[in-house]
Amino acid sequence: MTAAVPAGGEPLDHAALPDGFLWGVATAAYQVEGAVAEGGRGPSIWDTFSHTPGKVAGGDTGDVACDHYHRWREDLGLIKELNAGAYRFSVAWPRVLPAGDGPVNAEGLDFYDRLVDGLLAEGIEPFPTLYHWDLPQALQDRGGWPRRETAEHFAHFASVVTERLGDRVKNWATLNEPLCSAWIGHLEGTMAPGISDLTAAVRASYHLLLGHGLATRAIRAAVPDARVGIVLNLSPVDPATGSPADAAAARRMDGHTNRWWLDPLHGRGFPQDMTDLYGVELPLRDGDLDTVAQPLDWLGLNYYMPAVVTDDPAGRAPYARAVRRLHVPRTGMDWEIDANGIERLLLRLTEEYGARKIYVTENGSAWPDVVGVDGGVDDPDRVRYLEDHLAACTRALRKGAPLAGYFAWSLMDNFEWAYGYDKRFGLVHVDYKTQKRTVKTSGRRYAELVAGHRRRGGHPA
Ligand code: IFM
Repeated sequence: MTAAVPAGGEPLDHAALPDGFLWGVATAAYQVEGAVAEGGRGPSIWDTFSHTPGKVAGGDTGDVACDHYHRWREDLGLIKELNAGAYRFSVAWPRVLPAGDGPVNAEGLDFYDRLVDGLLAEGIEPFPTLYHWDLPQALQDRGGWPRRETAEHFAHFASVVTERLGDRVKNWATLNEPLCSAWIGHLEGTMAPGISDLTAAVRASYHLLLGHGLATRAIRAAVPDARVGIVLNLSPVDPATGSPADAAAARRMDGHTNRWWLDPLHGRGFPQDMTDLYGVELPLRDGDLDTVAQPLDWLGLNYYMPAVVTDDPAGRAPYARAVRRLHVPRTGMDWEIDANGIERLLLRLTEEYGARKIYVTENGSAWPDVVGVDGGVDDPDRVRYLEDHLAACTRALRKGAPLAGYFAWSLMDNFEWAYGYDKRFGLVHVDYKTQKRTVKTSGRRYAELVAGHRRRGGHPA
């Protein structure tokens, strides 16, 4: 480490962090791996989507991304440099089962096997996610998530991966942000597979949750001491005004964003107000709700921003529209910054849903970073965002939230889906022309925060 990094926001209340608090960094396969046509990998819906003109800013694709597939050893060095004790990555389904349900591609599994061994050799805990949006295209061609079979194929994929890695990997996430797969991929249509159809979206959401439940069972069958969780992107939702119409809109948006996922996972079934609102018959079969509500060992919270909404009767479900408030700070994504939101969500998960163990599995911010003349990347806005959100996490801990770890999004700049490479979320800068990595000021600050925790005897994992 070089010179001390100036603090940007609130100081960290180290004493609030529990022993063994896990400090991690996160990525996802399609965003970093590249090598899309190597090692026997099959195409995914994101290959198709990103290669469709007009879908991704700048025509960017994940073909090369950060070339993590070839540079993962160098990247383990970066994880070490950030003092992270855990690495959340995702396993590309089309690398392991190129056709989704056909023969296993040994080369694909070997890649993750080597990555896991490499992490463990460095004392970094692997924290894989099984589905971070890269459905094999072959399964999409057969109907994708709106079809029940996709959930069953996902459980098979989970068995294949966990049977191979489960002797060494104990923490498993099933899905990342099913909201994006269902609502953005099938209703708004601005993410793969790019469909705009409420019926398809509701059916996709149902089968994603079913797939989570089936995969959870499959993981536990393969790895009896596995600790299984799911990763949700949640937002606190507030009405834009005090009007009854906006209050009702906020309730609907809360149903769409938060309760639609949390309620069935916690054995409460799908919220009736939302099934009424969508007006789409759920493809329910006996036993499905129990399958979805498998007990969770932990819940993953991805938090980026709050939502402030207004009634929008002319829009699409949930007939509530986010308003762009003036005079509030925003990130380079134009997302409102509100660190209190993470505290509110952690407390809601604790008090309303009885969460027993939560990880913040993603939190971070994009900024238009530039490499300075000295070759460094100074990103004070990201430092402040990081510190303020960590401070909010410690406030939630003090109020009883069972928060067990925090994963910064992201280890490094990467393919930001429909935004392409323009939006940079990394603690490490990536020059996409040369693949040179440069630890940003925020990365050094993160490393200092972890080291500070360690110095105080916090035994970070
Ligand atoms: O980059 C994404 C990630 O893949 C899922 N969660 C949100 C991040 C920032 O948009």
